Amino acid sequence: MLLIDYNLAPTFEPQQELRKGTEFWLHKLDTREENTSMNRRDFPEDFVFGTATSSYQIEGHGLGGAGPCHWDSFSSTPGNVVRLENGARACEHYLRYREDLDLVAEVGCSAYRFSTSWARVMPEGKGKVNTAGLDFYDRLVDEMCARNLQPWWTLYHWELPSALADNGGWANRDTALRLADFAHVMADRIGDRVHAAAPINEPWCVAWLSHYLGHHAPGLKDIRMATRAMHHVLLAHGLVIEAWRGQGLENLGAVFNFEKANPGTNDDVEAAKEYDGIYNRWFMEAVAKGQYPADILAGLEPHMPNNWADDMSIIAQPVDWVGVNYYTGKRLTRGVSGTFGDIAELPPHPPVTAMEWEICADWLEEFLLRVDLAFDGSVPIYVTENGMASHSGTDDLDRIEYLKQHFKAARSAIDKGVDLRGYFVWSLMDNYEWSLGYDKRFGLVHVDFETMERTPKASYHWLQALLKN
Ligand code: FCB
Repeated sequence: MLLIDYNLAPTFEPQQELRKGTEFWLHKLDTREENTSMNRRDFPEDFVFGTATSSYQIEGHGLGGAGPCHWDSFSSTPGNVVRLENGARACEHYLRYREDLDLVAEVGCSAYRFSTSWARVMPEGKGKVNTAGLDFYDRLVDEMCARNLQPWWTLYHWELPSALADNGGWANRDTALRLADFAHVMADRIGDRVHAAAPINEPWCVAWLSHYLGHHAPGLKDIRMATRAMHHVLLAHGLVIEAWRGQGLENLGAVFNFEKANPGTNDDVEAAKEYDGIYNRWFMEAVAKGQYPADILAGLEPHMPNNWADDMSIIAQPVDWVGVNYYTGKRLTRGVSGTFGDIAELPPHPPVTAMEWEICADWLEEFLLRVDLAFDGSVPIYVTENGMASHSGTDDLDRIEYLKQHFKAARSAIDKGVDLRGYFVWSLMDNYEWSLGYDKRFGLVHVDFETMERTPKASYHWLQALLKN
């Protein structure tokens, strides 16, 4: 049994100098090379390797008759997004998807994780359908199949149609019902060919990051709106699973993101536990067990929608697989107000990525074990996102090292009995990194955002050699 010990060796050193970027990281590369060589045969033959992307981050939301979404307005409000950048053009994947799918196939992947833009297909969020949008996803899935790539479909990766945002967005229960309608329309068109599907990417980001921390659209900082979103996004998950099963779809999953919650100092154990509860336990336990963690519910209950408990059986319908998105962990301390949810971040320990996200592959292994435990070892698990932002251009040795270490952690989880079946690297190509704009490059493939030229990086060639070996 895996015990989560929040007291484990807090290593906070207030005066520690933060060393960022490639120089520090490459130093580690030299010393670790021996231990981290990887081979395709380290993983089972039917293990799925893929790359992941999302619609708003790559397609070009200004193309093809998509309706406005809340990222368009959030990004045009000063202070929200670096240089007011938006996804109007992004990587022009809407026009270049064939070339992009060639890159996925040529690297040796057997799967591609993509998402469908709600506002592209239903510009008003409900009712009238934009035929060009539906046709696009139909072609996209056909082109995946033509390249022997399993289509791994995420229904909603964050671009809420503005018309629904105007109605209260995720704070409004109706949005969950409307997502189920969208799910139905989409599945009617592509459900016959998708290999696996999940309703929502990262419910924590949809709810807490966007309605309490205010970092993502709609940029709210409101505990009541956040609490409602925390519940409605899960209700949406359940309603979509129900709709899809009714349509005969199979292989339906849930994709959560996880972040290691480290106490910044010995006094911060409670703060870290609360962070862990809001981030890592709330969504997973609702789906796995049909209940919310009591310590977090105690903080949120005053703001929960009426009769929320009646929804728990919809939320907790069995899933066929669970997706783990993992990048990093945080060093935490109680915020100055001392109130529930007010948790501050202390500086990360090096090495860090270009996002200043602390790098620690062991935490990936820990989460794979935790998820396995939460679902009683009964559900296959996939790493649905993992990767790093780097400033090292096409010579991204740091990303190679990062991936090696995380692949190794995944292998180690398998050795410990986790039914891990696949791994999707975030991301296929550099793209729109939400409120951080186009500076944070996560791609295996470099994108010149002026010319739209795609150039495979060293990490792409490394992965290709690994997969074709
Ligand atoms: C995840 C998101 C994805 C991307 C990566 C870096 O949380 O799902 O869209 O932004 O982080």
